[in-house]
Amino acid sequence: MQQASAADEPAAATPLIRFEGVELGYGRKRVLSGLSFTLYAGDYLGIVGPNGVGKTTLLKAVLGVLRPQAGRVTRAPGRGGGTLTFGYVPQLQTIDEIYPLTALDVVLMGRYRRVGLFRRPGKTDHARSLAALEQVGLADSATLLFRDLSGGQRQRVLMARALAADPDILVLDEPTNGMDPAAERATMDLIDRLHRESGLTVLVVSHLLNVVIAHVSHIAFLGASDFAVLPVAEATTPEHLSRLYGIPIAVGQVNGRRVATW
Ligand SMILES: Nc1ncnc2c1ncn2[C@@H]1O[C@H](COP(=O)(O)OP(=O)(O)OP(=O)(O)O)[C@@H](O)[C@H]1O
Ligand SMILES: [Mg+2]
Repeated sequence: MQQASAADEPAAATPLIRFEGVELGYGRKRVLSGLSFTLYAGDYLGIVGPNGVGKTTLLKAVLGVLRPQAGRVTRAPGRGGGTLTFGYVPQLQTIDEIYPLTALDVVLMGRYRRVGLFRRPGKTDHARSLAALEQVGLADSATLLFRDLSGGQRQRVLMARALAADPDILVLDEPTNGMDPAAERATMDLIDRLHRESGLTVLVVSHLLNVVIAHVSHIAFLGASDFAVLPVAEATTPEHLSRLYGIPIAVGQVNGRRVATW
C-alpha cells in the first residue's frame, strides 16, 4: 500500500479513501494542512499525535462530516456499489447513562442506518447485533444494562455497534482511553483479530504511541512536518521517533511486540 511500501503490499490494493492536499479547520481556525494519504482496503493504519493536534478532526473528514477547507477527499464505493460504510467507535461515548439501554439496544443502534430511524429493527438486525456482541466476546451480556458495564466492556459494546453496521472500514478514536493495561491489551487484541480474521480495514487514532506501534502495520504521525503513511517498522526506528518527539527514544520488543521507551 501506502506510498512507501509498495514492495510489501498486494499488487492490486484497492484505494478506499484518498486525501489530496487537504486542509481542515473550523471557521477561520486552521487545524491541519497538507494532508495527503491513501487508505487501502485491508489496511491496518494507526495515526498518532499529541492531544489537540487534530486526530478527531481528521476522522471527521474521513467520515465525511467535516468538509475540507481546501484539497480533496475522495471515497471509493462500498461493497455492493453503495456508499462506503464506516463503523465508528467515538472517542467519548455519548450514550445517556441514565436511560436504561441494554448492551443489545446499544448495538442495534449500529443497524439504524440500514433500518431507518423510525422503523423497528427486524430479525436480521437482532441476529446481526447478537453476532456482533459475540464477535467482541460479550454474547452473554446482551441483556445487561450498558450503564452497569465496566469501561472496557462498554468499549466492546461500542465496537459491536460499529461492527453491526457491517462496515467497509472500522474507525476507532482513542479506543483504549481510560483502560487498565489488561483491558487495553484485550481491546487492541480484539481489533487485531477483526483485522486479521475478517480482513476488515482498520483506521485507529490515538495519542498513545505504544498502543499503536504494538499493533498496526502502518503508521502516520499527525503534527509532524512531513505527514506520511509508513510501514510501522520503518517509522519506528529510534532515530525517527527521537527526531519526531525531540527526546531520546529507544525501541525494543516485549512479548513479541514493539515497544518504545523514553
Ligand atoms: N467544533 C469545533 N469548533 C472549533 N474548534 C474545534 C472544534 N472541534 C475541535 N476543535 C479544535 O481543533 C483542534 C483539534 O481538535 P481535535 O479534537 O481534533 O484534537 P485531537 O487530536 O483529537 O485531541 P485529543 O487527543 O485531545 O482527542 C483543537 O484545537 C480543538 O480545540
Ligand atoms: Mg480526539
